[in-house]
Amino acid sequence: MKQFLEEISEYVKKAFEDAGYDGALGRVTVSNRPDLCEYQCNGAMAGAKQYHKAPLMIAQDVAAKLSDSDVFEKVEAVAPGFLNLDLSNEFISDYVVRMSNDDHFGIERPIPSVMIVDYGGPNVAKPLHVGHLRSAVIGESIKRILRYMGNEVYGDIHMGDWGLQMGLVIYELSLRQPGLPYFDDGFDGDYPEEAPFTVSNLEEIYPAASGKSKQDPDYKAKAMEATLKLQEGHRGYRALWNKIMDVSIADMKRNYDRLDVSFDLWNGESTVQELIPGMVKDMKDGGFAYESEGALVVDVKEETDTKEMPPCMIIKSDGASLYNTTDLATIKDRMAKYNPSKIVYLTDKRQDLYFEQVFRCARKTGLAPDECELIHISFGTVNGKDGSPYKTRSGGVPRLSDLIDEIEDSMLAKIRENAAGKDETVSDDEALDRARKVGLAAIKYGDLSNQASKDYIFDVDRFTSFEGDTGPYILYTCVRINSILRKASEQGIDTGKAQILPPVNASHKALMQAISSFGAEITSAYREYAPHRICGYIYALSNAFNSFYHENHILTEEDEAVRGSFIGLLKLTGSILKTCTDMLGFEIPERM
Ligand code: ARG
Repeated sequence: MKQFLEEISEYVKKAFEDAGYDGALGRVTVSNRPDLCEYQCNGAMAGAKQYHKAPLMIAQDVAAKLSDSDVFEKVEAVAPGFLNLDLSNEFISDYVVRMSNDDHFGIERPIPSVMIVDYGGPNVAKPLHVGHLRSAVIGESIKRILRYMGNEVYGDIHMGDWGLQMGLVIYELSLRQPGLPYFDDGFDGDYPEEAPFTVSNLEEIYPAASGKSKQDPDYKAKAMEATLKLQEGHRGYRALWNKIMDVSIADMKRNYDRLDVSFDLWNGESTVQELIPGMVKDMKDGGFAYESEGALVVDVKEETDTKEMPPCMIIKSDGASLYNTTDLATIKDRMAKYNPSKIVYLTDKRQDLYFEQVFRCARKTGLAPDECELIHISFGTVNGKDGSPYKTRSGGVPRLSDLIDEIEDSMLAKIRENAAGKDETVSDDEALDRARKVGLAAIKYGDLSNQASKDYIFDVDRFTSFEGDTGPYILYTCVRINSILRKASEQGIDTGKAQILPPVNASHKALMQAISSFGAEITSAYREYAPHRICGYIYALSNAFNSFYHENHILTEEDEAVRGSFIGLLKLTGSILKTCTDMLGFEIPERM
């Protein structure tokens, strides 16, 4: 199905042509004066120069051609040359009926292809903190949007599991527990089943080690040595590394589960180690990589560059590989295993230059063929109310789990208050379940409703409010719709037979109009990797629905056909909202 505005524009374009003008002038937009009309076309203004004619005359010529069209109920040419348009009731309801008869509400989906979304990016042995929220939330949503459009999409967590932080933890452990078999080079038995630490130990060990290495160059050198030994395959270190991975991954899973974020691939920097030597050799043989001050680099500068573009370093002067190296090898690995048409990466803005270098290097060296698009979506910072990066009360970097707790606690209080207000008794389990679902919507919508590249303020009070542009408000609307539909079936109304008919009043028509932009908004969200477009759409849709709800008596409507039509529209609104909240990554509770 064509997008709604495109479909209307077709008629106006034809009228321009019939009146002897260029059809391209007939593009229709939503009115910026909703008090005067629903839609408008400014083509006559643009055509005035081309045709040496007053714009009003052109507009009048076109209006005459549209005067007996079934599409518009009102067509007015007004000074200085605008066309003001109102749709006919039949046209809008026909469009909405066609949407409701299609599996994807009439959206046009592209030829499907394989895509990879690289998001999450936690670092092993370090706790997940506020900085990991956005990658997880935005990445999960983008993955779901790409899937909704029919693609085969793999979400890859791409853990930081091979760098200095591993060497730091290993070296610190060797000082604390020197008797462990992992540090005994002569040991050739089986290493113990159980890890010699818990996740809380790790969370204390890593920052302690990192602190020491910053003050003590000798300590740092030892940690780097341990990193290199690990990478070179030291038996005990590898075994210990496996334990660190197990404990860390279990903790990551707990965090991501709470966010309803899940990955298809649990790969990391370590996954591609074996590919590095061959890749480096190819880069050298191909004449791309050369030695510079002991390191191996690839130039990625282009003539048109206006900013500085340092070469992409492949191997450090001490022979170690680095973050770049694993990212490049990962591209090679993904091409070989999945041959994706796109790889989308999510990190914060500070990695913009980094990804530019990596992408250029991958293109230049042929790791990424032209058919594979490499896309970096970078996001801004989560700030506190004071406008600087979000901190705990004591000034530390908040853990991701603390952030989720904070929202859930606040939500739980509101859910209890709400239930008390309605004299509803809610069990503790039930209240907690609602608080989790609504809390998740509060966090995710709070994040996703902002354009990703912008910073935003983590405002618990605003995010958890049941009113305004918030997740809970959207869910409240969904819950309301579901509850009306439940009541309808309790009253024996056959909702399966509901037939959408032309609107009977303004709020009814406005709801249909809000519904009709699904195709345009979701397509933009898809093309621009922009979940905030979906938030904007469902917020407008929820507002239109709630006005309709307040101005009409849905179940007590006496005219059975009209009541059926109301119910049909309710069902459509409900399933569109469900589809959109799925794409954003949160669930609708039964009650709240
Ligand atoms: N672990 C990285 C970090 O904490 C993020 C990984 C992003 N993905 C990638 N392919 N580089 O900064």
